[in-house]
Amino acid sequence: AAPLKQLAAQKGLMFGSSLAMKYFDQLSAYKQLFVSQCDIATPEFQMKWNSLSRQPGVYDFAAADQFVAFCVANHIKVRGHTLVWHDSMPAWVPGQLSPTTARAVMLDHIRVVAEHFAGKLYSWDVVNEVLDPGSQRPDGLRASPWLKNIGVDYIEQAFRATAAADPKALLVWNENYLEVSNGFGDAKRKAMLIQLDTMLARSVPIHGIGLEAHLRGDQANVLGDASYEVFLDELAKRGMKIFITELDIQDASFSADFRMRDKEVADVYGKFLTASLRQPAVKGVVTWGLSDSFSWISGYRPRKDGLPVRPLAFDVNCQPKPAYYAIAESL
Ligand code: XIL
Repeated sequence: AAPLKQLAAQKGLMFGSSLAMKYFDQLSAYKQLFVSQCDIATPEFQMKWNSLSRQPGVYDFAAADQFVAFCVANHIKVRGHTLVWHDSMPAWVPGQLSPTTARAVMLDHIRVVAEHFAGKLYSWDVVNEVLDPGSQRPDGLRASPWLKNIGVDYIEQAFRATAAADPKALLVWNENYLEVSNGFGDAKRKAMLIQLDTMLARSVPIHGIGLEAHLRGDQANVLGDASYEVFLDELAKRGMKIFITELDIQDASFSADFRMRDKEVADVYGKFLTASLRQPAVKGVVTWGLSDSFSWISGYRPRKDGLPVRPLAFDVNCQPKPAYYAIAESL
C-alpha cells in the first residue's frame, strides 16, 4: 500500500495519526506502519493536563518528551494536543475558583507546558471543544469551569499566552461536531464564526481550525454536503488553515459482516474527505489511530453485538482495508 503521507504530499497535504508509543510494544508491525504512513502525529493523551500533572504545579514530561523525540527522529511533525480542555483537567484543579486564581492557574499551565515544548511542535491545539449549543447560552460557548470562573475571554487569553510561550507554533482551535449539517452542527458553525470574528477583530493570534471529524456512520446523509463546504469557505475567508484532526468512522450502526461493514466505513471516509479536500485551506488529515487494534471507539462507541469495531484504515494485522483505499483515492 502506497504510503498515505506520500500521496498527501503530492497534493501539498500532510497525513498522520494519533499515537501512543505503548502500542509499538503491543503490536510489532505498528511502528513500521506508523513511520511509513505518517508525517504528522498527535499524542493521544500524553500532553493533556491530567497526563502531565498529577499534583498541583508538578509536571512529568517524560512520556511526552519520548513522543516528541520519536517523531523528530522519524521526520514526523507533532501536533501539540491540548492545553485547555474541560475533559482533561487534573482532579486537583478545583471546579470553583475566583477569577484571579482561575486565570493564574490556566495561564501558568499554558506557560509551563508551551515553554517546555517551544520550537519543537508544528502546532498547538490551544483550546479543545469549547462550543456546546446544549449549554443554552446565546453565544453557544460551553459552560466549562474556565468560562464560569474567568469569563468568555478565557479563550482569547489562552491564545495570547500560548503565542507568548511558543511563538513558532501554529495556534489552533480544535472542535468537534462541525462536520455534520444538522441543528447541532449548524449552531456550532454559527457560534464559531462569531467567536472567530470577535477574536480576529482584536488581533488574537489564532491561525487554524481543527475539525475532529469523529464521524458516525448513521449520519452519513448529513455529511460533506454543500453547507459544510460553505462553512469551510467561511473559515478560509478568515485566513484560517484547516486541519482534519481526529478522523474515524463509528461503525456501530453498520453491518455485522466485516466485508460489508468495511465498505460502508470506506464510503464515509471517501465522501467526507472528497468534500473536505476540495477546500484548499485544508492542509492536513490526521486520523485517530491507524489500526483497528488501537481505537478509542472500542470503548467510546462499541457495537451492540459485541463484534470488534473497524473504524480505521488498517486492520488488526496492519493490513490496508477499504478505508485505506478510500482515503488514498480522495487525497
Ligand atoms: C481520547 C483518547 O483517545 C483517549 O485515549 C483518552 O482517554 C480520552 O481522549 N476528542 C479529543 C481527543 O480531542 O483528545 C479524545 O481522545 C477524543 C475526543
